[in-house]
Amino acid sequence: MKIAVTGATGKLGRLVIEKLKERTDESTIIALARTPEKGKDLGVEVRAFDYGNLPQMTESLKGVDKLLLISGSELGQRVEQHTNIINAAKEAKVGSIAYTSLINLDTSSVALVPEHYDTEKVLKESGIDYTILRNGWYTENYTDSLKATIELGTLYGASGNGKINSATREDLAEAAAIVLTTEGHEGKTYELAGDEAYTMSDYAQEISKQTGKKIPYVDLPEGEYAEVLEKAGLPKNIAGFLAGAHNSTAKGDLFNDSRELSKLLGRPTTPLSKVIADSLA
Ligand SMILES: NC(=O)c1ccc[n+]([C@@H]2O[C@H](COP(=O)([O-])OP(=O)(O)OC[C@H]3O[C@@H](n4cnc5c(N)ncnc54)[C@H](OP(=O)(O)O)[C@@H]3O)[C@@H](O)[C@H]2O)c1
Repeated sequence: MKIAVTGATGKLGRLVIEKLKERTDESTIIALARTPEKGKDLGVEVRAFDYGNLPQMTESLKGVDKLLLISGSELGQRVEQHTNIINAAKEAKVGSIAYTSLINLDTSSVALVPEHYDTEKVLKESGIDYTILRNGWYTENYTDSLKATIELGTLYGASGNGKINSATREDLAEAAAIVLTTEGHEGKTYELAGDEAYTMSDYAQEISKQTGKKIPYVDLPEGEYAEVLEKAGLPKNIAGFLAGAHNSTAKGDLFNDSRELSKLLGRPTTPLSKVIADSLA
């Protein structure tokens, strides 16, 4: 049995490799990396894997039974890249593919939906056994800017009272490792969200509680929030994308109470309060 992971030198990929090592022999794991030197510290076999290089990907997938296709990070190019990967997997006779998609894909208004939708379609029509892992928003999307929020003394956003069931990369990585090392996931679609539903106001309250500083949440119209992000130094397109994601949050697109993630993990998901405490430590 050989299990391969794309994007293995990325943040999620590294955690998946770590979680796989806890569950299976290292000799069964293959890290697929655009720049193999970056994966030297992973402690498993690393093979070259550039999403634009079909012959290289086909060669690197030889002998692979299960593939985790972690969605790429180059927005706008991903359907072509993911299709290349699926075609290479077909050519190399890979047994099954698990793909990291997006939470609430069937109803969500998040701008990322079309690329994930098209990839899911290509995968489902490929004839290869598949599992769809519709990953929730990473909790780290919020806590990565925690220090800046505390310095500013205000949490800005445009999410209204929209509830967020985010999940840590680590929980999502563990779920992927479980799917890759256990049976019975073929043809299934998992909505992988955290157990807890919080609003941006709840998030601000938890930061205030843990820091002892009053950090209010100020909700802005989408356009104004994009301006705040631009003034903070983000490029216009990223600021617009993030503000759009907040607008989708306000519509409930990040809310999901299926608890499929904790069911897969066999334990509750990591609470927001712990992620904040770890970030502050
Ligand atoms: N759920 C969420 O909130 C959320 C947030 C952000 C992203 N995402 C999605 O989840 C994925 C994993 O997240 P992450 O945090 O691990 O992202 P990340 O750290 O940016 O990792 C992305 C990985 O994709 C690889 N990659 C990108 N383009 C490639 C190409 N053309 N050929 C080969 N490899 C390529 C990168 O390779 P290098 O190491 O060589 O750069 C990297 O290993 C992202 O790519 C994105 O699709 C989800």
